[in-house]
Amino acid sequence: MQKLEGLERGAITYDKGSVRPEVGKWDGFDHVHFYVSNAKQVAAWYCLRMGFQLIAYRGLETGSRDIVTQVVKQGKIIFAFSSPLNPESSDIAREIMIRGDAAQDVAFKCGDVKAIYAKAIERGAVSVMAPVEEKDNFGTVIRATVKTYGNVVHSFIQRNDYKGVFLPGYKSIEKKDPLADSLPPVGLAFIDHVVGNQPDNEMVPVADWYCKVLEFHRFWSVDDSVMHSNYSALRSIVVTDWEETIKMPINEPAPGKKKSQIQEYVDYHGGPGVQHIALNTPDILKAISVLRGRGLDFLYVPKEYYEDLRKRLAKSRIKISESLDEIERLNILVDFDDKGYLLQLFTRPVEDRPTLFYEVIQRHNHAGFGAGNFKALFEAIEREQAERGNLTNLTVKSSPSRPSDCSNGKECEDVAKEPCEKKAKHR
Ligand SMILES: [Fe+2]
Repeated sequence: MQKLEGLERGAITYDKGSVRPEVGKWDGFDHVHFYVSNAKQVAAWYCLRMGFQLIAYRGLETGSRDIVTQVVKQGKIIFAFSSPLNPESSDIAREIMIRGDAAQDVAFKCGDVKAIYAKAIERGAVSVMAPVEEKDNFGTVIRATVKTYGNVVHSFIQRNDYKGVFLPGYKSIEKKDPLADSLPPVGLAFIDHVVGNQPDNEMVPVADWYCKVLEFHRFWSVDDSVMHSNYSALRSIVVTDWEETIKMPINEPAPGKKKSQIQEYVDYHGGPGVQHIALNTPDILKAISVLRGRGLDFLYVPKEYYEDLRKRLAKSRIKISESLDEIERLNILVDFDDKGYLLQLFTRPVEDRPTLFYEVIQRHNHAGFGAGNFKALFEAIEREQAERGNLTNLTVKSSPSRPSDCSNGKECEDVAKEPCEKKAKHR
């Protein structure tokens, strides 16, 4: 593979080819569903700290006898939090016991659930739920669910002209949190990407699953020669749908002197899972300023990062329209290539376990994922890993089952017109 001229540092992008997938059209992320131990309090935390608003509910009062779900929204971002209601063992209770609070379903919007589901099953997807049509006074929604990495699933959601606030069976919530009006809005607009962490040597098979089963294609990748610090490293492949509305970066740890942050995640989550969710905003300066004011904790970026950034920008054609002083004051990260730039910042883990965190991102003609910031990001995370006693010697075991490459994978060639690696050309 050749690297593209002017590309962000060390990353590779891919041509999706000229043959559109046979079935279905994706339309971005619909929502993310979490299993949590106390949905009421988690929803309140997202409203208070991150500026979401409670919009829907199901529980004992709506006839849901076993599960309570609180649903929050900001812009087009919808998060649903479910907890078990009864003192008995259940799938949700077992998941929470092992993983703590975690994202369980990354749901995609699409145009034809039945066709996409049928094709996915034909191509080897494991079904969780065959397509069902659910109705209420606001219209009809068709849903189906398949397994992906770890215990994470993908629901396919076809809303047609559904007018309800979330899904059939949920009660709309009109009551506003009294604190909402006393705090400025954050302005988070939509889910930009959702990152899945894998154990060592599992990244390529997982990325290939998306290419094979959902007819996604590779969009972007970096290897550990790019994404590393003095101590730890990772590799990442981003897969996306034909319209490029859903971006799913897939990470794995790479050998380094110390334990990778990805391995730390896998150890504490108990296997593969959702590492971070990036939330896109049209005004990151305002968003970070307001989120900090609401008490959300972000990673610390040292002064030297900004000294280096100013030197690199001085040699670049790119002009940053936001004030660099403000960017530095708010500790926001900048990545750029010849054509555009992105601004991003990462929260600290939002739970006691060092697992799930959030990214806030603003893009200016830049479709990358911040490869130029990985060193600074790694070093910031490693400072905190060390405080947690987890920047230890690497003890990852290699899996013998890793396919050498998708382009050589017979299974991939059998089911797809073109294996995903063969589609890789440079933009
Ligand atoms: Fe990200």
